[in-house]
Amino acid sequence: MSDRMPRVVGRITSLGELLGELRRPGGILGLVPTMGALHDGHLRLMEEARRGSDILAVSIFVNPIQFNQRDDFERYPRDLERDRALCGQAGVDIIFAPPREEMYPRPMKTFVDVEGLTEHLCGRFRPGHFRGVATVVAKLFQIVRPDRAWFGEKDAQQLAVIRRMVRDLNFPVEILEVPTVREPDGLALSSRNRHLSPHERSVAPALYRALRAGAALVERGSVDAADVLNRVRGEFQPYPEMRIEYAEVVHPDEMQPVGKITGPVRIAAAVWLGSTRLIDNVLCRPGAAA
Ligand code: PAJ
Repeated sequence: MSDRMPRVVGRITSLGELLGELRRPGGILGLVPTMGALHDGHLRLMEEARRGSDILAVSIFVNPIQFNQRDDFERYPRDLERDRALCGQAGVDIIFAPPREEMYPRPMKTFVDVEGLTEHLCGRFRPGHFRGVATVVAKLFQIVRPDRAWFGEKDAQQLAVIRRMVRDLNFPVEILEVPTVREPDGLALSSRNRHLSPHERSVAPALYRALRAGAALVERGSVDAADVLNRVRGEFQPYPEMRIEYAEVVHPDEMQPVGKITGPVRIAAAVWLGSTRLIDNVLCRPGAAA
């Protein structure tokens, strides 16, 4: 592990110059797109990316066009100095942290919409969110031109959307997936966890427990998604302070709800705890426990 402070660039032209200096023929340029407020989940992505790249770039940009609530955008944590030190420990070479005007110098008229995959789950409750994600990731791919980019399974619908965008639009980038990093009690790491009150934090692991309970049913041979979802919802009964936004069983690539479970599925849910929204998901396959 190197501990050199990464170079931070905010301008697209400066990034181009720096990459021109650093890139070697045949060398692999890796990218980990983030919105900063880095935690151990991001660090796992960087660790994997460090192993899979010759030059490793991390982007830090709180992307305004993917937030559908102004308040969520404004209170999103920002701490570039801390993030820079963490990137240094992870051996990152370059941080691309553009100001808003660099990414969006004029009102956008061009967007990337990935249809179908964004109809359910978060797509249903956060209108425009995945359009904002796909558009900014497309811009980052054009600006950085990475050979490989790493994304977390924690945001499985986002990952599916980006994989599909890359295939549909022939982006010359390989997408790699990193499993969800969790606290010892199962809570998936998220930049938003810091908004939880001590009480909310103490009940938050129920989300993962509920998804695991659903997955266990599938693995023991349940084929009816409605039964599985009843089980998932039942797990929240002791916690009236958790408001379920959605709980669904979906096809792992198409992200469309499944009625009869005949192959691998993802069980995904979003819950509100006070003013904080948590999402999580698990992949499972029928009869895996048999
Ligand atoms: P952000 O929420 O900062 O996440 C950056 C990357 O870290 C994403 O690929 C996300 O899936 C991954 N990640 C977050 N928490 C994780 C965890 N607990 N375990 C494993 N991976 C985790 O996702 C975004 O930013 C943005 O939408 C972005 C793709 C950068 C576009 O703006």
